[in-house]
Amino acid sequence: MIKYNSEEKLKVVLPENLTEAILKLKKALNAVILVHYYQEPEIQDIADFIGDSLQLSQEAARTNADVIVFAGVHFMAETAKILNPGKLVLLPDLNAGCSLAEGCPAALLQKLKDKHPDHILLSYINCSAEVKAISDIIVTSSNAEKIVKSLPKEQKIIFAPDKNLGNYVMKKTGKEMIIWQGACIVHETFSEKKILTLKLEHPDAKLIAHPECEGKILEKADYIGSTSGLLDFVINNSSNEFIVATEPGIINQMKKKAPGKIFIEAPPEAGCKCNECPYMKLNTLEKLYLCMRDKKPEITMEEEIRKRALKPIQRMLEMSK
Ligand code: 13P
Ligand code: SF4
Repeated sequence: MIKYNSEEKLKVVLPENLTEAILKLKKALNAVILVHYYQEPEIQDIADFIGDSLQLSQEAARTNADVIVFAGVHFMAETAKILNPGKLVLLPDLNAGCSLAEGCPAALLQKLKDKHPDHILLSYINCSAEVKAISDIIVTSSNAEKIVKSLPKEQKIIFAPDKNLGNYVMKKTGKEMIIWQGACIVHETFSEKKILTLKLEHPDAKLIAHPECEGKILEKADYIGSTSGLLDFVINNSSNEFIVATEPGIINQMKKKAPGKIFIEAPPEAGCKCNECPYMKLNTLEKLYLCMRDKKPEITMEEEIRKRALKPIQRMLEMSK
């Protein structure tokens, strides 16, 4: 089968059975394939480990593999590289970014920090290595509340870059924070009106939401949590029907782990597919195969940045035990 790799404009020959070829390469490279829940089902199916941002960084910290193949977005693979400077970390498509990371340049965040020298900087893991390098502690959607609660009461905090997660954590902890006004393009897309209509049509359905959603959606949610939190909730909750306000990639695992239950995608404002993360969806099985075959694209960074970025990640991993 002949296919074209659009990036390199090269004719590339792909094996008939991509999954089989990927598994062979995995063995030859002594690689581990880490996959986020928002990836396509066919990518989820070949994962050695599938998880949320915290679980993926924990797995990256403990792996013995020589090569880490990251099927997720850039900041996730970058975190794996920060933790494993000696390993080759591959990302199938280097353009798989994140609107939160892109909306928070380190130089501007440094200016905000300079204005508040008595504050510490808590950064959501959805940020660049440069932002991590100027941060005191990294948090994810599954540990942000716990980490803020564990800090001394008088500790002043700047929270970046997600305003929705920041506001949610402020509400849960009662802790005032200065919040960077960033947002996720996917989680800001859900329509409150359409969700309310769905709730009327499905009165027994539970609305479950990721904390990157806007406050008006979170206020109506029966459960709020990280992707793994949402997955655990649908497995353990006695309800049979769920309206899922996050990227629909997670529904594949929900169907597998809670068979027979009904999952309804929370609808976006416009009649579009804006609830799908365009960055996550840049990764394909073909690109996964090619990155393993060619050992590129790989994640690289300046050692000075890496060393500084490592400290707040290690603090998070310690505080999450
Ligand atoms: P989780 O840490 O909950 O998997 O979230 C990652 C993410 O990018 C959500 O949009
Ligand atoms: Fe970033 Fe949003 Fe995509 Fe998550 S869903 S990777 S926060 S753009």
